[in-house]
Amino acid sequence: MSVSVFNPRINDVANMTPAVNALVEPNLAPAATATKKVFITTQGCQMNVYDSDKMLDVLGDSHGMVVTHDIDEADVLLMNTCSIREKAQEKVFSELGRWRKLKEKRPDLVIGVGGCVASQEGDNIQKRAPYVDMVFGPQTLHRLPELYDKSSEQKEIAHKNRIGTIDISFPSIEKFDFLPEPKVEGYKAFVSIMEGCSKYCSFCVVPYTRGEELSRPLDDVLAEIDSLAEQGVREINLLGQNVNGYRGTKDDGSICRFAELLHYVSHVDGVERIRYTTSHPLEFTDDIIDAYAQLPELVSHLHLPVQSGSNIILAAMKRNHTIDVYINQINKLKAIRPDIHLSSDFIIGFPGESEQDFQDTLNLAKELNFDHSYSFIYSKRPGTPAAELADDVSFTTKKARFAEFQQVIIDSTLAKSHEMVGTTTRVLVEQVANRHPDCLICTADNTRTVMFPYDVEKMDELLGKIVSVRVTDFVSPHMVKGELVEVLA
Ligand code: SAH
Ligand code: F3S
Repeated sequence: MSVSVFNPRINDVANMTPAVNALVEPNLAPAATATKKVFITTQGCQMNVYDSDKMLDVLGDSHGMVVTHDIDEADVLLMNTCSIREKAQEKVFSELGRWRKLKEKRPDLVIGVGGCVASQEGDNIQKRAPYVDMVFGPQTLHRLPELYDKSSEQKEIAHKNRIGTIDISFPSIEKFDFLPEPKVEGYKAFVSIMEGCSKYCSFCVVPYTRGEELSRPLDDVLAEIDSLAEQGVREINLLGQNVNGYRGTKDDGSICRFAELLHYVSHVDGVERIRYTTSHPLEFTDDIIDAYAQLPELVSHLHLPVQSGSNIILAAMKRNHTIDVYINQINKLKAIRPDIHLSSDFIIGFPGESEQDFQDTLNLAKELNFDHSYSFIYSKRPGTPAAELADDVSFTTKKARFAEFQQVIIDSTLAKSHEMVGTTTRVLVEQVANRHPDCLICTADNTRTVMFPYDVEKMDELLGKIVSVRVTDFVSPHMVKGELVEVLA
């Protein structure tokens, strides 16, 4: 979902739920004076992209703020941070250094830091960067309007004496109750179905920065999807760190598991495609695999992170499954959906990774022939169990392995795109291509961008539709070109 401008509904409290009313009513005065502009940067995962949209939504609804892409005209600067790897975390303070210079010139600028680095560092952020006005975590972004007002009131006070400008708590699933109605542009939207992660993989900070797994109630998730579908959304991407661990409460108090949720979502009028990000092999159960037989709305693409092809490393990572389990799941799925496209995440250079462990990972990637994958050099994260593990592999070796692994991934991505030529593929038509206005831009099941020429007079009959396209040309590793065959839905 990309929300580029949000409704400047200044004083339009009648449109909000009573809970939101209570939160923002006393704070409406600043909005009445002038329309403030927010500039936001987002690091990291799709959860953060979703959260950034929500930050803009809450400030839009409560204070009538609008988004700007020009940092020089912004009144509020927000940084939604990621701490999954050290590099991402380092970026926060270097970027903040640049923002400090802006604030020296414009002391009225309000600077907020949210996301996982905020959650992990808390008070340290304002100690290292006292010019930061607000610090909030992924679970408290709905309190941004309050934080904004408190920070404005206390601007002149030294940071250590400010009250209530830091909020990095984990107030259960409260955040979602305070978010305004989703507003969308385009035909695709993310819907967060759960927060946090309880898997505690030994290398990962997420359980510490986002808290334990907490699922949103079924009705809330479906209400959000209904509202998106009414606004024209055709593709829903269900978001969570481990969506297949979803356990949402139903109206009658019983628990809805992920496979059942997929069935409910497929019944929402207007929803033609369903994706989800991310799932974990541990709870990738048969009922989810069966859903691929029953629900044509589920795209033929699965992103299932495996991290390593070595059972020894998987155990050290505390992934709690073996390679055989993973391969079995993929084979079962392929039996149901022979055209399934696969992608994965890999960590190269985990502590103690032997040459054999690395070869096992390389072989798994070659065997499964992924459509694309994400690979990362292991990054030691303070506070995680893996940070305590002995590591006798030099960084030079890790980098060489990483380069070799990347090449395998690049080769299979390229090969998969070439293989598409001559086939017919289902795509969602999204928009006119910026650089080729004679073509429409679409996304295929396997996330490749597909372009095809169209008749301008028929544009409205095509935008937002699921169509089939015969692929005629390879354009780049992630893009192909083709011609329209027929409109499907
Ligand atoms: N929920 C997902 C992972 C979310 S984090 C899962 O089921 O695995 C996204 C990816 O970042 C992970 O899959 C992993 O490949 C990578 N990652 C996480 N922590 C890392 C670390 N300390 N070093 C390098 N890569 C890491
Ligand atoms: Fe991280 Fe493992 Fe959860 S990679 S997000 S702890 S599944």
